[in-house]
Parts: sequence; structure tokens; C-alpha cells
Amino acid sequence: MHFYRILLILPFFMAQTHVQSQVQHDPVSNNESLYRPRFHFTPQKGWMNDPNGMIFLNGQYHLFFQHYPEGTVWGPMHWGHATSSDLVDWKEQPISLYPDSIGMIFSGSAVLDKNNTSGLGRGGIAPMVAIYTQHNMPGEKAGRNDFQNQSIAYSLDEGKTWTKYAGNPVLKTPNLKDFRDPKVIWHEPTQKWIMSLAVADHVEFYSSPNLMNWSKESEIGKNLFAHGGVWECPDLLSFNVNGKIVWVLLVSMNPGGPNGGSATQYIVGDFDGQVFKPFTTTIKWMDYGPDNYAGVSFSNLGERKILIGWMSNWNYANGVPTEKWRSAMTAPRELKLVEQNINSNEFLLVSSPVKELNAGFTKTLSKENIISENIVALTSAVNSIPNRIDFNTLQVKDFEIIFSNTYNEKLIVGFDATKKQFFIDRRNAGTSNFHEGFSRISNAPRMTEDAGMDLSLLIDKTSVELFADGGRTVMTALFFPTHPYTNCILQTKKGMNLKSINLFSLK
Ligand code: FRU
Repeated sequence: MHFYRILLILPFFMAQTHVQSQVQHDPVSNNESLYRPRFHFTPQKGWMNDPNGMIFLNGQYHLFFQHYPEGTVWGPMHWGHATSSDLVDWKEQPISLYPDSIGMIFSGSAVLDKNNTSGLGRGGIAPMVAIYTQHNMPGEKAGRNDFQNQSIAYSLDEGKTWTKYAGNPVLKTPNLKDFRDPKVIWHEPTQKWIMSLAVADHVEFYSSPNLMNWSKESEIGKNLFAHGGVWECPDLLSFNVNGKIVWVLLVSMNPGGPNGGSATQYIVGDFDGQVFKPFTTTIKWMDYGPDNYAGVSFSNLGERKILIGWMSNWNYANGVPTEKWRSAMTAPRELKLVEQNINSNEFLLVSSPVKELNAGFTKTLSKENIISENIVALTSAVNSIPNRIDFNTLQVKDFEIIFSNTYNEKLIVGFDATKKQFFIDRRNAGTSNFHEGFSRISNAPRMTEDAGMDLSLLIDKTSVELFADGGRTVMTALFFPTHPYTNCILQTKKGMNLKSINLFSLK
């Protein structure tokens, strides 16, 4: 796709040779068992990036995704497909959309056209309609500006088979190179479909009565908010906050994230079906970690907002040391909007792991009122390191949760009370030679002054997801130990008064 992305891929081929030989010489480390996550979605084989077209229908969550099945680096994009009835177990399904003469199938969304506004339904079946960008590679290579256009496809059998609309593309670019990632919602007050589209350094809103004819309504973002890189994958969501409807626009951006490379910012405001009016121009990040990108929400879920992100970063996604597949999705997160202070019009987007995940875990330890001097062992004899750690503390003090193996590799997740910052230190976490900037400490500000703190960590083979203070600060980071971590401790310099601590393992 973009020239920068092709340049990015080249050094990874070289780096990978090194990583692979390292893994092969080591009899303990089978790449698959070392790195394939246990409760995060990965494709069986091949490359994956953004989640696409996520939709809930008849008890099934559908996750489509950017997919190149023939290789483990970014290539001609398809829409892969997976389904789950509980957001924990995902079943990979046959590929949904293949590249065609118009172009590759880039990111986009899916809606249930309940009222058959598109006329694509048959025999009373409401069509599931996918709206996606088609990226025409020959056009890009020829130096043209019209290579990204929006198309639609529909399914009458709950996403099993798809028919591409004969009149594609339905929204052509006005000769702008970056014109992509349509996220469509039904806007009840105006009885129209609204498409949010990423256009280089801003988002444009289009409306349509039927998903086929689109008119531009407005745009937002030029010279406002974070602009370290190109804007991608927007999502427009409405929340009911104490009876008041407040809108949030998620915008992914690469590079320019708070800890390098890709990240997702959000804008809070009002949307009337035509114009988005932000309440403030403060820059806010949905997740401060380096590895949550292009996250969007499921459609057709009513009031609930569930988001899944791509758990990687364009800085190194093509070079991470997995062999059969590349990239995993984040755990599904429930999004809520909270008002900082009553009537302040200052809102924070908070995320927490969806409650459905609880069914996948068993509690292995539960303790209350621990006054820790400096070390609490968190490793359970049977299951080694926990997959989830939840704690609640009365005072906010420095702490470090350290995951380690006997090969001197360690990952540290902690809090610095002086700087009021959470951090993830993966400088010595394992393999990092695939990208210079991988081995680093990522920081995130604490978003509240509350006396106590609660924290939830989800730990899989190569990822940690931190949700602090009711999801006000979120960080997601990858790591690649050469041998599994077998030890986990909570270490404090000044002791800590834990109200409760609960450890969980996967069932
Ligand atoms: C975001 C992105 C999208 C694009 C897709 C291509 O990661 O660059 O803007 O549609 O990936 O795979």
C-alpha cells in the first residue's frame, strides 16, 4: 500500500532470519507454543491487521479482519472472518471478501440493514451490508490520486457468503490519496446512514438514505487534535451519560502515538447528523500502550459498546517473531463515557475487559487486607503465572509487577507515584531485535486523584493489557520472551495496603 509501509517491511525480512534461527536452535521453544496467544484471536495462518465489520447478529459476534492468507507480512488485503458466541472462543471461518478488479479489500464496517433501505434484502431477510475501501494498487503505483474508493457487499446468510454490489464503488474519491476506512452507523434522529471516513488529516462525514448514494455533510480535525501521522479507522459512537447523549469520535493515527508509532485518540462532542462539535480540543488517547490500533466497535449491539483493536503497531508488526501467523486482536473491551466532575462537560472514555471474559477464567487466589512489606508472590504452584490479576489498594504507592523467566528476561508493569504514571517496561522482556524502538518503557498518566486505586491486568503469552482506575488509564503492550515467564511477583518499595487481590488462570 503506502510507500512507507513497503519500506518498513524490507528490514524485517532480514531481522526475521536472525530471530528464526535463534528459535530453531532452542529445543524448548516451539514458536507456536511459545507465542500463540491463549485467549486473544489470531488467524490460523498468515497476516492480520485491523478488525473490520464487527457486528452482532442472532447470538453471534462476527469479527472480520484485514487478512493476507498467503504470507506473514502485509500483502493483498482480504477480509478474513471469525465468529464467537461468547467473545472468548473464536472460530475462524472461510474468507469473506477477496480482492477484485477494483482493488484490495481495505478496512471498513458492517451494518444490519433492518429496513432494507438498500433493497438488497430478499424474501424478508434483512441484508448484512459491508462497507469497505478498495485500494487499487496499480493506480497507486502509477502515481494516480484516485486509488481509494468505497464499495459495498451484502450477505443474506449471516456473513457466510457475500455478493459484491454490481454498482461498486459507491463513493469515489475526489482525487484524494488517503480516503478510506468507512465506519457506518444508523442515525436515528435523521433516519439516515452516517459514514465516518478517514481523509489524511481529518475525518469526513457522509450521509445516505440507502448505503449506495452518499453526500458529504461536514469534516472535522484539520489543525485540531493529534497530527503526528495519517488519520485512519474512525468510529462515531453515542453514549447516554446520565440521560444526556454525548458523542465520541475515535480516530487512529500512525505514527505519532504517545509511546511511538500507532495509537488511537478520541474526541468528545455533539453530533447532529451533519456536524460534529467537539467540547474541547484537548488530545485524549483511548489506550496509551504501543499495541492497540485501529480499534472500532461492534454494530447492532444496542446500547452496549464493545471494542476490539489490532494488538500491534505499524512500527514493527511485520517483523514480530511469530512464524505461522502475525498479529493478535486485543481482548474485547466495554467502552463507557464518564463525566470527570458533575456538569463539567469534561468526559473520559473508559474501557474494561468485557464481563464475558470472566467465564473463561478460574480464580486461583483471593486475599483481602494484605499489608505488603515489599514482595508478594503471585505465581501459583499449578498454573505458573496468572492470566489475570485484579487488585484494589487503599493508598497510591509505587509498585512493580514483575514477570520473569530464568533466562534473565523480565517484563515490568508498574506505577510511579511521584510522576503519577503507569508504565510498562519491556526493555529486557525478551526478543526485540526486529525493531530498534521495541525495547522501551511506555508511560501513561493517571487520570484521577482518587486516594485508592484499582487495577486489572490481562496476561497472555505475548501481551499485557492494563486497565487502571475503572479503565481511566489503559495500556496494551506486546513482548516476546525466548522462554515462557514462570515467575510473577508484586514488588513495592514502601509497602502497600491491598484491600483485595484476586488471581485468575484460564480454564
Ligand atoms: C490501518 C490501515 C487502514 C487500511 C488498512 C490496510 O491499520 O492502514 O487505514 O484500510 O490498514 O490494511
